[in-house]
Amino acid sequence: MAAPGGTGPIGPFPQRVGSDAEAQDAYDRLRRRVLWSLPYGLYVVGSRAGERRNGMTLNWATQLAFDPKLVGIGVEQSAYTHQLITEGGVFSLCTIAREDRAMVRKFTKPVEVDTTAMTLNGFAFHDGITGAPILDCAPAFLDCEVRTTVETGAHTLFIGEVVDCGFQADEDTPVLRMEDTRMNYGG
Ligand SMILES: Cc1cc2nc3c(=O)[nH]c(=O)nc-3n(C[C@H](O)[C@H](O)[C@H](O)COP(=O)(O)O)c2cc1C
Repeated sequence: MAAPGGTGPIGPFPQRVGSDAEAQDAYDRLRRRVLWSLPYGLYVVGSRAGERRNGMTLNWATQLAFDPKLVGIGVEQSAYTHQLITEGGVFSLCTIAREDRAMVRKFTKPVEVDTTAMTLNGFAFHDGITGAPILDCAPAFLDCEVRTTVETGAHTLFIGEVVDCGFQADEDTPVLRMEDTRMNYGG
């Protein structure tokens, strides 16, 4: 998945690029490739507001502080997940087993939630202590309460404090990274 385009090259441009439209376009494409080369993990974020739940594929996630234990995720403002986290104030971050890599394509739009079978798009889940859904097949999860939000353009950085976490599989289970897929996001 590429960055949303169609708006022309995005500045600022280093002085060496100058004002030529083609040079600015080439720089824009180069910067995108450099940004894509940053190593990332790949996760499913669980969100919850009232009885509404969602699961969403996301790679913009990182720990941000030791004490308190803070984790940040960058979420598109147009995403249903954004609405649920804004309203609910919680999210879960689930790692994905490398062998389950096909899953991430199933969490790129609002999921079908079955609260009788307790499934998200057919994948079993349970609610964490925050109420956010956690996939049963996730090797590990973090359950977070939002402490701070930072508007970053078309995304919001939700900074959450880890209020619960756990392993649900062997601690050494290889977890999915962006490089295990042919997908890109951002740039
Ligand atoms: C590989 C990959 C990585 C993604 N990473 C992010 C991300 O870091 N942040 C984000 O908001 N959306 C990301 N997306 C897009 C979301 O999965 C999703 O398409 C969109 O945000 C809508 O989600 P929704 O179900 O909450 O509406 C990524 C998609 C793919 C395929």
